[in-house]
Amino acid sequence: MNLLITGGAGFIGSNFIRFVLRQRPECRITNLDKLTYAGNLLNLKDVEGDPRYSFRKGDIGDRTLVRSLFKGERFKAVVHFAAESHVDRSILDAAPFLETNVMGTRVLLEVVRQYPVEKFVQISTDEVYGSLGASGTFSEVSPVNPSSPYAASKAAADMLCQAYYRTYGVPVLIARSSNNYGPYQFPEKLIPLMIQNALTDKELPVYGEGNHVRDWLYVEDTCRAIDAILQQGKVGEIYNAGGKCERKNIDIVEIICILLEQKIGKRGLRAKIRFIEDPRGAAHDFRYALDNRKIEQTLGWRPQAEFNSSLERTIEWYLENRAWLNSVMTQEYLEYYENVYKSI
Ligand code: NAD
Ligand code: TYD
Repeated sequence: MNLLITGGAGFIGSNFIRFVLRQRPECRITNLDKLTYAGNLLNLKDVEGDPRYSFRKGDIGDRTLVRSLFKGERFKAVVHFAAESHVDRSILDAAPFLETNVMGTRVLLEVVRQYPVEKFVQISTDEVYGSLGASGTFSEVSPVNPSSPYAASKAAADMLCQAYYRTYGVPVLIARSSNNYGPYQFPEKLIPLMIQNALTDKELPVYGEGNHVRDWLYVEDTCRAIDAILQQGKVGEIYNAGGKCERKNIDIVEIICILLEQKIGKRGLRAKIRFIEDPRGAAHDFRYALDNRKIEQTLGWRPQAEFNSSLERTIEWYLENRAWLNSVMTQEYLEYYENVYKSI
């Protein structure tokens, strides 16, 4: 299987590349990544010498480049991770989200029309469904109802994928997972941001009262879900993959404090929690939860990771990779942080 992976230098993409190289010896991978602030070749240091893997720096929106890659490689499948992925950044400026997530996806779909593949897996998110109240779950037939510019750009990309499937027969499959956590996640997202701030004696900023609920999925489980969809999924279908692990944000932050206190002997981390005015305002979805029945029944996938031990493993990874954390603390990150967390 000759695979094109887009956005493979980011969090989930790099974990997926490592997963595929480990699980599928027959696979060859080309990783096309623009290396935005979120893309980092250190995420793939351990595989860069693997003869089955090659990296190409570039923008998915660059049609000439994408076409030349497809012309040279004859890919059998595409797994499309490349995206602007952070809700708070999309509220500051939606433009790059539309450029990459919508227009970039369109370029890939157009080139695939010209150089057909067997499967095009669009990596989407539960955020396209919008918010749930205190009960219920979203299934694959729930209407899309995005709240943030990020979620709207992903919903638009999904719809474009469906349109290219129906109109031109591009063999699209859509994977919608819940919130991921694990090694190599950029510290703008809740879990690594709290770890990074705790390690550097900063305050721990919780939006609103911390009562929002997310459904956490360990990245290794996500990789298995995407692999199952790639290998056995039916073209034209959408598959939800949720963690079955709903937690309030404040509970996540408190567990991180407790685990870190145990591991590094720091005291008083919970006193660093600050409830701040919610930078997402009305766009902040209250709760996400996915109905997994389709992927369980048709592909035999279910989440396996146990939350507390996987969170502990994640924290250990960040403790063992302080150099990685320091390397992503760029001027750009500090400016971004200043912008969103003005009030603390
Ligand atoms: P990430 O931000 O860590 O990585 C995104 C990667 O895409 C980076 O390597 C970046 O350099 C690359 N990229 C961005 N724009 C590009 C462009 N124009 N051309 C080429 N490469 C480009 O994101 P992530 O958390 O790994 O998410 C990967 C995918 O999974 C995204 O599509 C996201 O919407 C989806 N997703 C993420 C989560 C989550 O919890 N992180 C949950 C569900 C779905
Ligand atoms: P995030 O990791 O950004 O993922 P998403 O918005 O895609 O769900 O945020 C997870 C939850 O944590 C969300 O409800 C917002 C909240 N949050 C905070 O309370 N403080 C923070 O500093 C961050 C980044 C997020």
